[in-house]
Amino acid sequence: MKKPESLKKADIIKRIFQQKLPTESYHEKGLAFAPTNIALCKYWGKRNAELNLPMTSSLSIALPEKGAMTSIVFQDKPYDTVILNDEVLAADSGFVQRCVQFLDLFRLEKKWYVKIDIKMNIPVASGLASSACGFASLVLALKDLFNWQLSNRDLSILSRLGSGSAARSLWMGFVEWHAGLTKDGMDCFATPLEIEWPELYIGILALTDKEKKISSREAMQRTVDGSILYNSWPKKVARDLVIIRQALNVKNFALLGGTAESNALTMHATMLSCWPPICYSLPETLAAMQKIWVLRQEGLEVYFTQDAGPHLKLIFLEKDKEQVKTQFPQVEIIRLFD
Ligand code: PMV
Repeated sequence: MKKPESLKKADIIKRIFQQKLPTESYHEKGLAFAPTNIALCKYWGKRNAELNLPMTSSLSIALPEKGAMTSIVFQDKPYDTVILNDEVLAADSGFVQRCVQFLDLFRLEKKWYVKIDIKMNIPVASGLASSACGFASLVLALKDLFNWQLSNRDLSILSRLGSGSAARSLWMGFVEWHAGLTKDGMDCFATPLEIEWPELYIGILALTDKEKKISSREAMQRTVDGSILYNSWPKKVARDLVIIRQALNVKNFALLGGTAESNALTMHATMLSCWPPICYSLPETLAAMQKIWVLRQEGLEVYFTQDAGPHLKLIFLEKDKEQVKTQFPQVEIIRLFD
């Protein structure tokens, strides 16, 4: 028996599928959509980088119509092909390599190759959770292709092995990803919250077309290893999670918005305190933040959150939709609930 510390992703696959081969039966095609998700309380830092086990729990909201639609078919070529938004990606691109490594986890005995066709309606690799919806939709498309009869818990664990935040991208609405305690991470998966908030809206304020230079994976590792502020992060998250759950339960918008904004700013503060510093914000990001703070002082209830990229996601209520649009004409407004 291997020591838990040396567990590999492949060991987790064996645990999930037990005696069965993951590719025993198959259909002609697998097809699935997964929404992207925006964390209101962030995941930042891993306690196990191989298994993508987070230091803390996190809580997100799904963007229903934003995400990835992935189809998978077998191909008679001795390699996999990945097509992203109608463009065949180079075999040596980082994303293709991550996809291939992920597929390898399921190619234990028999060799097969696939064409993966992903359509994403969010910018790729720029802090808009493209890897979350990408890997969640890949797992769901594989489930469809191989007819897996797996629980949501297992699907969430499989998605996490692809990209941490993908564990949360299997549901609409609010989702909590539980950090868990075990070394193998079998207690580290997400569950949806039974809460709806139809008046709550998100606005995507995309501030550049460029892809980010530092991946969230690298930035997280550098922060955990080199930020003197990182010790405070788990305490901040523990507190924010309690407040956010409470704000959702009683529909206290100011409490939700303020806590989510403060959580994101604290996450970025841990990155700024690394050396060399990690700064995802652009001048446009800071200008938008300043504008939001002034608008709030003037009475407009709008808050923001920011992930591992320069864009902001605005958080506001339906009643302020028009005003938010007037102030930020380029914002893309997302209705979260029907
Ligand atoms: O799952 P990753 O490796 O893409 O990391 C996501 C990290 C953040 O988006 C910054 C925070 C989060 O909880 O989604």
